[in-house]
Amino acid sequence: MQDVGAIQHILRDNSVAYDKNFSLYDRVKLFLGDGLLLQTGEAWRKRRKLSQPYFTHHSMPHVFHVALDKSQQMVQRWRIYAHQRVAVNLGQELASVMLQIAAEALFSTCLSFEEALHLVSLYAKTQRYVHRAISMHRWFPSIAQWRARYGSAQLKRAIDAIIHDHISQRPPDMLDSFLAATECPLMNLAKNDIRDELQTFLGGGHETTTSGFLWTMVQLLQHPHYVELLQKEIDHVLPTHDFVYEDLESLSLTKMIFQEGLRLYPPVWITARRLLEPDVLCGYSIPKETIVSICLYSLHRDLRHWIDPETFNPYRFTPEAVAARHKYAYIPFGAGARGCIAQLFSMTQVSVVLVMLMKHFHCELLSSDFSYDLYFTIRPSYPIYVRVRER
Ligand code: HEM
Repeated sequence: MQDVGAIQHILRDNSVAYDKNFSLYDRVKLFLGDGLLLQTGEAWRKRRKLSQPYFTHHSMPHVFHVALDKSQQMVQRWRIYAHQRVAVNLGQELASVMLQIAAEALFSTCLSFEEALHLVSLYAKTQRYVHRAISMHRWFPSIAQWRARYGSAQLKRAIDAIIHDHISQRPPDMLDSFLAATECPLMNLAKNDIRDELQTFLGGGHETTTSGFLWTMVQLLQHPHYVELLQKEIDHVLPTHDFVYEDLESLSLTKMIFQEGLRLYPPVWITARRLLEPDVLCGYSIPKETIVSICLYSLHRDLRHWIDPETFNPYRFTPEAVAARHKYAYIPFGAGARGCIAQLFSMTQVSVVLVMLMKHFHCELLSSDFSYDLYFTIRPSYPIYVRVRER
């Protein structure tokens, strides 16, 4: 499905007729848990309400400070890499930092770089095996199925350890809200549901952001002209003073560069819904139980909405250009009631880390093979390496 009117109909205008309750999503549960992303009906509504306050504008200064702290640690690490002239595995570095930020900003859990790396590799392995097993019947005995279940069990143990070690801090975090909800009979939330939520927020939280950030960096570094403009913007906004939350508003090119990266490589490159009742899409009658998929990857390169769509051009996201386009021609965060809860969160964390990296380093791409695999997110087929030099 690529028609913007039909996409708006499915995701927003008639979203009650479409749900996510079908076999594909059962597999996704193995690595992302049965959390907010996959819940439906009343359970979804209650959980969304519980999580929402941690993703509003009001919570962003906190996310900013956590992201700044983690990126300062990253800068220290990269200074050593620069000094030693070692090749840096960009995907691994970004994934660990994205996970560290989500764990601390949402659950007050401070993961070391190595702990984050371990969890990142558990998620990645489990996603790979779940994806490999997707075409097989659930109970078909195969090594991929066994590994998917084994990976999932390891992930659950790691998340349980985070919940166990969680020390309640002030102000209360999202985990406190989940724990308090288990005491409330109306919420109908059990201990295992909390683990599923953490698995969703930590997994969904770092996988998508890392994928979007990584491909943005690959595009950016292949276009030195935009690197130069970005560094000019950063030097202009942050000439001498420390980076503060209010600076984000002035970093418009930084934001547009990430938006363009998400256009070319939308991390959630496809989504799907099951039709609960007959409907009409683009003039065709669609029967109940049909699975309708929306391919964000091709939507974002559709010639009906984008001139020269294969070209990296952040200026597609000036306010005037955005206003002139159909709203549903660009939906990296989905749309409607089931759209991403963390759009603001991820824009904030990526902007902070991108600014800190480009402020302090020149990066040179060492890899030249940028082929990718379409798992649940767009993942590079081979690690992508860069060499960094202090500015
Ligand atoms: C660049 C980063 C991100 C992108 C591109 C992205 C994309 C998406 C998309 C497309 C959806 C809707 C899926 C659908 O309609 O089937 C979604 C939902 C969701 N995302 Fe994100 N996401 C990002 C970052 C994050 C982060 C950082 C978190 C958590 C910290 C997160 C948590 C969620 C959750 C919980 C949902 C389900 C919301 C609901 O159904 O109520 N995402 N995301």
